[in-house]
Amino acid sequence: MPHGGEDQVAALYWEAFGRKLAPALGPPEKGRAFIAAHLHHDRGVVALAGDRVTGVAGYRLGGRALTGGGVRDVLSAYGLFRGLPRLAALALFERAPAPDELVMDGIAVDATHRGQGVGSLLLAEIVAVAVHHGCRRVRLDVIDTNPRARALYERHGFTAHRTERTPYLRGLMGFGAVTTMRRPVTTADATDERKAR
Ligand SMILES: CC(C)(COP(=O)(O)OP(=O)(O)OC[C@H]1O[C@@H](n2cnc3c(N)ncnc32)[C@H](O)[C@@H]1OP(=O)(O)O)[C@@H](O)C(=O)NCCC(=O)NCCS
Repeated sequence: MPHGGEDQVAALYWEAFGRKLAPALGPPEKGRAFIAAHLHHDRGVVALAGDRVTGVAGYRLGGRALTGGGVRDVLSAYGLFRGLPRLAALALFERAPAPDELVMDGIAVDATHRGQGVGSLLLAEIVAVAVHHGCRRVRLDVIDTNPRARALYERHGFTAHRTERTPYLRGLMGFGAVTTMRRPVTTADATDERKAR
């Protein structure tokens, strides 16, 4: 992810995941600013139209994810009383990768650019990153209220691995189940990645 697009990436993330992130990082202006200030540029791929970021996909690898900000950052941005419940909400989104696994933890395409293949390009790039790092699998989570994203992942070779019911999150975040999907990294992916380089 190039430097300079932090605010745009944060805006895309908030537009796509604001409902989920608000209990942890809201209100929106503050949440977007927190995300923009703590991005790890080496853990995301973006689609660009000129200087404009039209899509982003973040991933977690080696204990590091696109969206950063540790305990100290949350507490210094939100204060102790407000910060502690936020840390509890953020802990819900922790997704530790297994060894040799890359976890994609957020893909978002600008609403005016959807349906044009940008999401597919970002997914292909995520697989290329997994190949580059010698991973043997890509994993992601999709919520039950997002069948369009799930269909996209299935078209790209991901299959459902397990579904966790989360009725306690329906009121707070709007979804009642999370499905983990996985896709093996194949020799064909490795060949594609070599050709692209
Ligand atoms: C999910 C998301 C990232 C997909 O991005 P996208 O750029 O629209 O993805 P694509 O264009 O590659 O594919 C999606 C659709 O466009 C179609 N499409 C692909 N290439 C196309 C092209 N060149 N022209 C027209 N349509 C195309 C696909 O068939 C697919 O159709 P469908 O979903 O209507 O059945 C995007 O919808 C998004 O940001 N959603 C909000 C955030 C979100 O839900 N993220 C996922 C969380 S798990």
